[in-house]
Amino acid sequence: MVLYLIIQYFAEFCLCSLIVTILSIVCVRFIGEKNVPCKCTARLDGKTVLVTGGSMGIGLATARDLARRGARLILTCVNEHTAKAAAEELIATTGNQDIHYRQLDLSSFDNIQNFAQDINENFDKLHILLNNAGKSCQPTEKIRITEDGLESTMQVNFVGLALLTLLLLPKLNASKPSRIVNTSSKAFKTHQFILDDITTYRPMFALKIYSNSKLCVLLWTKALSRRLSDGITANALHPGTVNTNIYVTKNDRLMNYIFTKLVRFVFKTPVEGAQTSIHCCVASSLEGVTGQYLADCQISESVEAFDDFEYTEKIWEKTMAVIKSRLPDEVLKQITVSHK
Ligand SMILES: NC(=O)c1ccc[n+]([C@@H]2O[C@H](COP(=O)([O-])OP(=O)(O)OC[C@H]3O[C@@H](n4cnc5c(N)ncnc54)[C@H](OP(=O)(O)O)[C@@H]3O)[C@@H](O)[C@H]2O)c1
Repeated sequence: MVLYLIIQYFAEFCLCSLIVTILSIVCVRFIGEKNVPCKCTARLDGKTVLVTGGSMGIGLATARDLARRGARLILTCVNEHTAKAAAEELIATTGNQDIHYRQLDLSSFDNIQNFAQDINENFDKLHILLNNAGKSCQPTEKIRITEDGLESTMQVNFVGLALLTLLLLPKLNASKPSRIVNTSSKAFKTHQFILDDITTYRPMFALKIYSNSKLCVLLWTKALSRRLSDGITANALHPGTVNTNIYVTKNDRLMNYIFTKLVRFVFKTPVEGAQTSIHCCVASSLEGVTGQYLADCQISESVEAFDDFEYTEKIWEKTMAVIKSRLPDEVLKQITVSHK
């Protein structure tokens, strides 16, 4: 009798778990996030596009689409061999021969400066900068402080992005109409941010570090957009929840196995996740549109702070305090606030 009851309870428990799992998958996949494809068919012949982190995941899927549209493409990767392999694969699959690759590590200011100098010297134009590269910060991960004294997720996802963008600004300005597209994440909604987090590591739940860095990308984009002259735009985006390596935990194989088996059904594919990035890069409907946040290929609501002039200016100033010494006078002159 007791055994019968235990079996009955166990069976009910399994059935309930199965129903909850199926409902969660349905909610996330079909209700929570929409799969909106970029419908713009614009070509990019004669345009130069730089995609950071273009060797896998959303970056690679975006790069493939942009290559098919005829762009001159520059891909970056932390590891030069990986970037080379991605570039060769794109040349083979798209037929576009004008695909270049470079090594870039956003966790080093010196590396970013050398990279930007290389791009400024060797490419005459830059029409689209897609800041796609990013890393997660997982609970099992050891916190790393970079050679520049910043927490590594904050530097790779945000401060490095800011430095790179400003170092390339004169080139973007000289290539108008041009676009800056910054990859944020809806994870910013769960942030636990104070201004000092840009410069100083504060112990907190690891995923919050990621959320904070993506909040900074979002708010900094707004402040940047106010400083850009006509003909150059800056927008931020959320690609969706996408099945990529960003969720792979380096030292937990069991968790990775379960997770990767499950997310196949729940998350967007990289091609689906690339749609908003592609849209921000090419859509003619976004000509002149700046200082916006996009998700599912449309302008979307983000957080209240996005429209808070003073707060976004504070993010700007705090970031400038870290990177200003790395910026040439030519750039500093171009980012005098215009209060658009
Ligand atoms: N997947 C999602 O659900 C999701 C959701 C919201 C936002 N995002 C954002 O979307 C972007 C692309 O992510 P993904 O999902 O495609 O991840 P991914 O497959 O892990 O790709 C991340 C890319 O960033 C590059 N990267 C990592 N660390 C770097 C560093 N220190 N310097 C320069 N590049 C670096 C990687 O290059 P290496 O191969 O050399 O490491 C890789 O190409 C990220 O900004 C991410 O935060 C993703």
